[in-house]
Amino acid sequence: GGATAAGAGVLASGWSTLAQAAPLDLSFPKDFVFGCATAAYQIEGAVAEDGRGRSNWDVFAHTPGKIANGDTGDVACDSYHRYPQDIALLRDLGVGAYRFSIAWPRIFPDGRGKPNAKGVAYYDRLVDALLAAGITPHATMFHWDYPAALPGGWQNRDTAYALADYAGYMAGELSDRVKHIMTVNELRCFTDLSHKEGLHAPGLKLPPAGVNQVRHHGVLAHGLAVQAIRAQAKPGTQVGIADNMIAFTPVMETPEHIAAAQKATRIENAMFLTAVMEGRYLDEYLAQEGAAAPKVKDGDMAIIASPLDFVSLNVYTPEWVRADDGPKGYKVVPHVASSPRMASPWLVVGPEAAYWTVRNVSEMWKPKALYISENGASADDTLAGDRVDDADRVMYLRGYLSQFRRAAVEGYPLKGYFLWSLMDNFEWADGYSKRFGIHYVDFASQRRVPKLSARWYREVIRRNRIV
Ligand code: NOJ
Repeated sequence: GGATAAGAGVLASGWSTLAQAAPLDLSFPKDFVFGCATAAYQIEGAVAEDGRGRSNWDVFAHTPGKIANGDTGDVACDSYHRYPQDIALLRDLGVGAYRFSIAWPRIFPDGRGKPNAKGVAYYDRLVDALLAAGITPHATMFHWDYPAALPGGWQNRDTAYALADYAGYMAGELSDRVKHIMTVNELRCFTDLSHKEGLHAPGLKLPPAGVNQVRHHGVLAHGLAVQAIRAQAKPGTQVGIADNMIAFTPVMETPEHIAAAQKATRIENAMFLTAVMEGRYLDEYLAQEGAAAPKVKDGDMAIIASPLDFVSLNVYTPEWVRADDGPKGYKVVPHVASSPRMASPWLVVGPEAAYWTVRNVSEMWKPKALYISENGASADDTLAGDRVDDADRVMYLRGYLSQFRRAAVEGYPLKGYFLWSLMDNFEWADGYSKRFGIHYVDFASQRRVPKLSARWYREVIRRNRIV
């Protein structure tokens, strides 16, 4: 051993112990926002109450064979009735914000026409109770549940206009109290997963031209909603999107691989966030789709690229990228059986994805502000007495949050983080078989139990640093 850091001890071996050296500062910027996220169909239940219309997800979940164990969102976490209890959980965590979504079928049961006052009143109550608890509401207008009465769903261009009408109306109702509004959640999921893969409602496997048209209607709906919200919201309302662009992540942090990952981010998300941020479909995408490319009307692209106050990202899984000599300049490295995963087979672990999504989006498109609208993990939780020791989820969260922190500390405009999810809930096609909550829900009794991860998150928030 040679010279030791000031204050550090020296072992008999001559190696210095770092026990007394300055600890690494793991704190977050002062006004960093910590929150939790949920979505209406996944937690509310009460599907036939107070005039709510039938949704695409009601229809899909009640179609035999579509959801694991035949589960449905009919009751879910019963949050429609138990929201005061859920707000108490948020309060115990000490979060500053809560992201929830509004069920379109509660507001316009038939898709269009006269709003349903009882549906609106539920969100009034929710927002008022959040504010009374000192929690800032962030609302998502469309988190996948739409009125089943809308003819043709997302295959029909009219649905984009219907969504904008609904979003504008709700912005008018809530924006005296809700200052952060997201248009849609995860473009790729309500388009591709629902119309190409057939795994989500309405469960279609359309040919490429049909899929591209649905994607176009999705981004158009977002743009129209931005404009409608701005037209009807109170001044000072921030409007954004919650997207899940593929999180391309360099295999190592050297210039050539970093450049490759950024290029992949832009090109592979061409039909989604790239179109929203740049107002055009990239030549690479149009050439690749050929005759199946979307039919675009004059003015659509400008609507799609309506300026945003913030961009929110849902980040779960990395897509590893390396530089490559081929014409594209990058190569996506496939996940393999030994890639580390959480309980959902798709949920490959790679905390660096957190840092690189924020950095790539910031460098390429310079958003005014960024939020992480979702990050979290499914785990094989077991309730033992009144404890769930989900150390694996804590590990996952700590890794990702450390990388988000890195981006925030380096000065990228990351303002906040919403953990998915406040509690176990209806995980779409996986039903209740996959648990993402930091509170365990016993669905038979509707009891909520804080997991180890909830205790961990509370400490992070209280100390404003990684623990
Ligand atoms: C993305 C979705 O927005 C949310 O609804 C879902 O439950 C989580 N990711 C976990 O899959």
